[in-house]
Parts: sequence; structure tokens; C-alpha cells
Amino acid sequence: MRDPSVGGSASGQEFRPQVHFTPNANWINDPNGLVFLDGTWHMFYQYNPLGTTWGHMSWGHAVSRDLVHWQELPVALAEDDQYMIFSGSVVVDAANTSGFGVPGAPALVAVYTGSSQGGQRQNQQLASSVDRGATWTKYAGNPVLDCDLADFRDPKVFWHSASSRWVMAVVLSVEHKVSFYASTDLKRWQHLSDFGPAGATAGIWECPDLFALSVEGDAADTAWVLKVDVFDGHACGSSGAQYFVGNFDGTRFVADTASSDAARWVDHGCDFYAAASWANIPATDGRSIWIGWMSNHRYAQLTPTGAWRGAMSIPREVSLRRSARGPVLLQRPVAELEALRSDAWHLAGVELDSEVRVLAHRGGACEAVEIIATFRLLSAREFGLKLRVGAHEETLVGYDSAAGTVFVDRSRSGVILEPTQFPGRRQAPHVCADGRLRLHILMDSCSVEVFVDDGEVVLTELIFPSQASDGLCLYALAGTVSIESMDVWALQTRNPHDH
Ligand code: FRU
Repeated sequence: MRDPSVGGSASGQEFRPQVHFTPNANWINDPNGLVFLDGTWHMFYQYNPLGTTWGHMSWGHAVSRDLVHWQELPVALAEDDQYMIFSGSVVVDAANTSGFGVPGAPALVAVYTGSSQGGQRQNQQLASSVDRGATWTKYAGNPVLDCDLADFRDPKVFWHSASSRWVMAVVLSVEHKVSFYASTDLKRWQHLSDFGPAGATAGIWECPDLFALSVEGDAADTAWVLKVDVFDGHACGSSGAQYFVGNFDGTRFVADTASSDAARWVDHGCDFYAAASWANIPATDGRSIWIGWMSNHRYAQLTPTGAWRGAMSIPREVSLRRSARGPVLLQRPVAELEALRSDAWHLAGVELDSEVRVLAHRGGACEAVEIIATFRLLSAREFGLKLRVGAHEETLVGYDSAAGTVFVDRSRSGVILEPTQFPGRRQAPHVCADGRLRLHILMDSCSVEVFVDDGEVVLTELIFPSQASDGLCLYALAGTVSIESMDVWALQTRNPHDH
């Protein structure tokens, strides 16, 4: 959430998101060490305390009571002469298996990759906190897992209750493998098995996550999801996340056949990477929630954002739905966001015939806006919404009926960060089962996130329009479409507890 007191260049503030997390200053990438503890959502992240480009990697830290308003805290883990602090996870060591806890204060244990300053070696290391994440001590016995490799990183650790031990998923990036290890004390790790190569292997693998998810409508039906990011060869043309659904028996992950045939993309846009799920969410909450870095290494260092650089996606609730194609991952914005809705307007029963209909010119172009729309497909070859429309700018969110694809097109969205990876139309095949398309869109000062039909398909893209481009339109090309209903809300971010 934006802190109006923080300076930066005019352009930096113009693109500062309202409802997405950004650091007050400097560079961020992957979310790390996501953990819920005593009513607080902790988020650590890859952070350069010294500048607005990648480097000096350390763990920044922010906390929230509602997943929407964030307060940035001091750097949790800083690089040292030997190692930068790369991505990893945090566990609550309630039974003090590590011995890092003190009476009355269970330890939080961070398991992260130490990446040697020269880049020749990556190994897994520990740090612990006995004051709820405020201060951290690196373990004197580091590293705890070292295979003498240059690309061995991003440990995700969780408690596997059936086998009463910790399990780590960590990538062998170049080999396109996720390695599994087990430990009873977080310090000594035993190799269990490897998964991969599988799915998309054109680029190196990064940032694995592994968790059990319940299937919608049947709490007893669960499956395991293994997510891993690929640096190249994603549907968007560069990097992104793929997922496998299958079973993890405590030793080995086996993907369902349907899920290992062709890569399944978590998000079809360019700007959702390195997603990680929160640990320790209480059973009374019952959700699985993750968040991703809303950018792309291809052009992340070029964003015109002044003193800060990099944002997180909206936290997303994830679940599974069984379908003819096997289990499908669903992602929806967390319900907490609904508390921000204000200034609503609604329309229903509108039919468009090969036309563009201007709906609104909003004064505050930087406002965050949420849109939920249901279209009924008629004859239009293509239809959808035009966002942030100006004299020479527009971002399209639509459906191509001939191709059967849903898309976001940022070819004319504003500042084009670089010519090859940034402009263009990103699309995903999608069948509108009942002849309808439901779009749930979150638009913020420099981003568009589109959740299609309960989040079966998601597209996340950064955009950098000029402030004057504040129009919102509906359009139909070559035929008709009916808008059965559409709700638009400005998202009110100036809540009393805003910092
Ligand atoms: C992914 C990544 C990770 C690594 C981190 C370094 O964006 O490359 O694999 O740990 O960023 O910042």
C-alpha cells in the first residue's frame, strides 16, 4: 500500500500501485519466507538495500494484518562478504527441533540459498528469530546443505506430518530437476528423490513450491501441486511459472499423466514469477494463499518508477478443480480486497454491435479499479474492454472467438520498456463452456491482473500509460456481444489504518 509521505521522482509516484505491495525505496524481486504468525502475515522478499537494480541481495521484510495494507520493516537478513541471501522459505519450529527456540518463544527458521559473492557456489543456509521475525541470527554451522554446485537454490521447506519430518524442495536449475530432502532438525539433510526434467525445460528452473490443495466441493479430496518457474520458454515468450498436479508420499513426487504431458502455466502473462505460498495458515482460515513477483527479469530493471522498483501481485487464494483435462489450478484475489471497494457502478443488458462504447473518463487515472463483467458470446469475432484509453494508448482485455483465446494486449499501453519482450498480446486458450465469459480484473497504477472464469486462466501484465489516458471502453469487433452485467469499483486505499 502506498505511503504518501515517501518521495521519489514524479514518474515513480505516478506509477506507484495503490493496492499492490511496493517497497518504499529500492529494488525487490521474489517473495520469500511467507509465514503467518499470531495474526500477522509476514512477507520477506529479495531486496537490494543499496539501489534500484538487482544486486546486494538481502531479505527485506513487510507485515500485514489483512494481506492488503503492508508495513515495511528493517532488512531482516543482509548479505555479507561471502554470500548474498537468495530466495527461500521460513518455518515455525513449534517443537524446537532445531534447538534455536527459547522457552516461551518458538523459533522462526529461515532456510535460504547463500549465493557466493563470486557466483561460483550456491548452498542452503539457516537463520533464526526468537522475536517473531524482528531480528535474525545466521546459523554458525552454515551451510547446512552444499553439493558444490553453482545453480542449486530456492529451498521451500515444510513439515510433512505423515512422516514427522521436515521436507525441502530445492532446484537443480540447469538440470531441470526439483530435489527433495528430509531432515528432523533442519540442520542435517538427507536426499530423498528428484523430480524432472518434465514439462517446460527450455529455460533453467527456479523457485519450487510444493503443497497439498483441497479440490473444490470435496474437502476430503486433496492433491499435491508442484510449482516451478522457468526462465525461458513460457507461453508469454520469456519467463513464468508452470505447475504439476500429482501425489507426494513424503519421499517422491509423482505427477498425474495429464499434468506432465504438456506444460501447464500458472499465469499466461509476462509478469507473475517466483510465486510462493504462505506457511502456517491456521486451519480455521483453511485457505491456501500465494503471491508472486509482478515483473519479469527481461525488463524489470527498466521500469520508469523512480526511487522504488518492483511490486508484488495481489495475494491469491489457490484451489483445484477437477475437469476433463485433469485437475486445474484456480486462483482468485483474496477476499480481503473487497473491503476496499467504493464508488461502485453497475450496468446490465448492454448489446454492442461492431463498435466501441466509451464508459467513463476517470479523473484519477492512478486509482486502482476492480471490474467484474459477464459477457454472453454472440457473433462478434472479438470483444472485451479497453483500459487506460487515451489519444494514442489503450490496453485490451478480451476474447478472440475465432481462436478461442482470452488475451491481454499491451502493444499500445504506454511506455514500452524494451522492444522484444514487452509489447504484444499474451493469450491463453479458453473454452467458454456456457457461452459466457466472466472476467475479474484488477487494474492498478501500473498493472492489470485478469482472472477468467473463477481464475482457471490468469494473465498478469505491467503497463505504464500516461496519466491522461484514463478512459474505459467496451468493444465488439465484427459482430455483436452482450454484456449481461458489469460492476466497476474504485478501490479505496485511504483506510484509517493506512500507514
Ligand atoms: C528468481 C531468482 C531466484 C534467486 C533470486 C535471486 O527470480 O533468480 O532463483 O534465488 O531470484 O534474487
